Amino acid sequence: MKIIVYGAKLDELAYFEAWQKTHAQTLTIHPEPLDETTVGWAQGFDGVNCLQTTPYSAAVFAQLAAFGIHFLTIRNVGLDNLDLAAAKQAGIRIANVPAYSPSAIAEFSVTMTLYLLRRLGETRGPLAAGNWGQAASFLGRELGQSTVGVVGAGRIGQAAIRLFSGFGANVLAYDPHPGHPEPRATYVELPQLLAESDVVDLHVPGVPANYHLIDDAALKSMKPDAILVNTARGNLVDTTALLKHLQSGHLGGAGIDTYEHESPALLRYEQTGMFSDPQWEALAQLPNVLLTPHVAYHTATAVQNMVNFSLANLVSFLTSGEAVDEVIIK
Ligand code: NAD
Ligand code: COI
Repeated sequence: MKIIVYGAKLDELAYFEAWQKTHAQTLTIHPEPLDETTVGWAQGFDGVNCLQTTPYSAAVFAQLAAFGIHFLTIRNVGLDNLDLAAAKQAGIRIANVPAYSPSAIAEFSVTMTLYLLRRLGETRGPLAAGNWGQAASFLGRELGQSTVGVVGAGRIGQAAIRLFSGFGANVLAYDPHPGHPEPRATYVELPQLLAESDVVDLHVPGVPANYHLIDDAALKSMKPDAILVNTARGNLVDTTALLKHLQSGHLGGAGIDTYEHESPALLRYEQTGMFSDPQWEALAQLPNVLLTPHVAYHTATAVQNMVNFSLANLVSFLTSGEAVDEVIIK
């Protein structure tokens, strides 16, 4: 059986090689994402394995189907960049990796929170300019004395609740369908969470219903000096409004691992080798903003699990027609 891998990153290669040594299926590995210019490489393969935050279009699914390919497994959690209706129409079945390491992302949110509460970004400019006195002047806040509002108490949100509560924070959570609620948080409605939290930490999927969940009104309702941390998806936050509330001094800071306009900026990056976007650059000017390139997941444990679990899903699809993590498309 032949498997084609797209979007392979350098740090995944060792895990693909290790997998190949213990499996009969042959992997053909490409660093490029799966799109309309690369889908032709899949002809003659039995299944496709991918990782990317740029779109999987209807045309890509139609072409895979034309090649007789029925199974795509992705190495990540989020499904927001897939045209699922088009996949279903083309007869392409998909599996993701729902839990490769929820702690990896939760720990990153805590890391961002501590950095912002202790105002470390604000020390960098003065230190670089040799102004020790100004660099040492930024009074921090303690996580253990703070109220943290976790929005979305699924796998990652629950891991975040455990970590924040371990620091002694008072943790509020909002989730309309929390499953088995993590008892270390007090569950409240979103308006109360926004009004009472010193830190608002997002862990909800970037589905259309959650578009701009954190809009101008939501940001306005947050406490003066509150911090927003988004390691979930860029489209959850209205970046124009976020910039307004940061520039006015209403918000105390923001940690953005998932940026609203990441996908179009990445498509330009593929053409030009330069990640540039006006609102990204405006955010980057602010010393109380921490921007990171969608790396909250990026640990050795997570990457190994992303490779192994997604390939296990694909082999299972190819050999039995079923995969434990199949995405049910309604
Ligand atoms: P999950 O499905 O286990 O949990 C999501 C939770 O959000 C669910 O409990 C759901 O009920 C809740 N929810 C949905 N809409 C909501 C809303 N409007 N308000 C409050 N709660 C809402 O998912 P997860 O594994 O915790 O992952 C969450 C998201 O994290 C993923 O969808 C993905 O976008 C993102 N993610 C980011 C990275 C990264 O590297 N930055 C890595 C993995 C996942
Ligand atoms: C996810 O797993 O959903 C992520 O956001 C990680 C990223 C590499 C796509």
